[in-house]
Amino acid sequence: MFAHISRQIAVRAASRAHPLSSAIARRRLTTTPSGLGSRPVQSVSPLAPIGVEAALAGAPAEPKIFAEFALTDRVALVSGANRGLGLEMALALAEAGARAVYCVDLPAAPGAEWEAVRAHVARMGGGRRLEYASADVRDQEAMWDVGDEVGAREGRLDVCVAAAGVLRAHTDCLEYPAEQFREVVDVNANGVLFTAQAAGRQMARFGNGGSIVLIASMSGSITNRDHAWVSYNSSKAAVVQMARSMACELGPRKIRVNSLSPGHIYTTYVPQTAQATARAIVDVMTAAYLDTQPELLDKWSSLNPLGRIGRPDELRGVVTWLASDASSFCTGSDILVSGGHHAW
Ligand SMILES: NC(=O)c1ccc[n+]([C@@H]2O[C@H](COP(=O)([O-])OP(=O)(O)OC[C@H]3O[C@@H](n4cnc5c(N)ncnc54)[C@H](O)[C@@H]3O)[C@@H](O)[C@H]2O)c1
Repeated sequence: MFAHISRQIAVRAASRAHPLSSAIARRRLTTTPSGLGSRPVQSVSPLAPIGVEAALAGAPAEPKIFAEFALTDRVALVSGANRGLGLEMALALAEAGARAVYCVDLPAAPGAEWEAVRAHVARMGGGRRLEYASADVRDQEAMWDVGDEVGAREGRLDVCVAAAGVLRAHTDCLEYPAEQFREVVDVNANGVLFTAQAAGRQMARFGNGGSIVLIASMSGSITNRDHAWVSYNSSKAAVVQMARSMACELGPRKIRVNSLSPGHIYTTYVPQTAQATARAIVDVMTAAYLDTQPELLDKWSSLNPLGRIGRPDELRGVVTWLASDASSFCTGSDILVSGGHHAW
């Protein structure tokens, strides 16, 4: 077990230098393990030999596909993870083997749903744990402090999911109030940048590379029919471009950055105080709309080829893929998971 992990670390270290940093490395020819020929090698899978190469090398016939998705011993930070998609994705990362997933959200203390998920993760064993940190993603200094603290406690930070986001009520674009526009952009664009910085600075500090997943939306590249959401849509388009831009800057440091753009997903929210109930209508993503306008469920469902909206658990696979070595050649991409909404 320990020998296996240290071998992985050694191989990862060997493949850490950026391929473009050395023209010599680019030209170097290495014999493949199968001995069937030679070809240029710029990087090596931490699980090598793998795939066809393993078969040709006569390696033990053990399936490796799930091992590629494993996050064993890695540390993650997920914003907006007190509930909704952030919490669902934090759990997926823990199930995939992350030893600690730091959930960042606004409330001073996490809610009952988060506590139940934390206990569920603890019962899974393997040293997995969910941690909670209260911070506002709009506060750059506070977010950097959270990142520093995670780095100091864990000695690494490998995965970031920036999921905190807000949607405001239907508002005519010609009358859109400046303050409300700023509020949405502040959380959905500035907050996503500050979250990615908080984690990315630690990834750069520890030198292991990492994967940053910015939660955008299909609304970053399509407009939701009959919904006057100009601030939300604009902020999500910014997130898609932010991922491309950061990916290009951070590639040489082996930090991958992608955006994940869901379609309509029903995220429930049970307000726990009278004040929270009053704010729910402006604060909550889909439940605020579907619970008060149930006819929208049929409408939204009819807008994609699958004829239904999505479940939060339907993002488990894609976020684990993006976070793990299974997506090691994917950066600067926007992954749309919309039930096909964007295709129509
Ligand atoms: N649910 C959907 O249909 C859908 C579709 C596409 C994209 N998304 C995106 O997915 C993400 C999560 O959506 P959700 O449906 O889980 O929403 P949600 O409202 O259930 O959860 C959002 C979380 O973000 C937190 N948050 C808001 N402002 C914050 C701030 N300033 N600092 C820290 N935390 C803050 C909230 O407290 C909440 O826990 C959002 O970015 C959203 O835009 C959702």
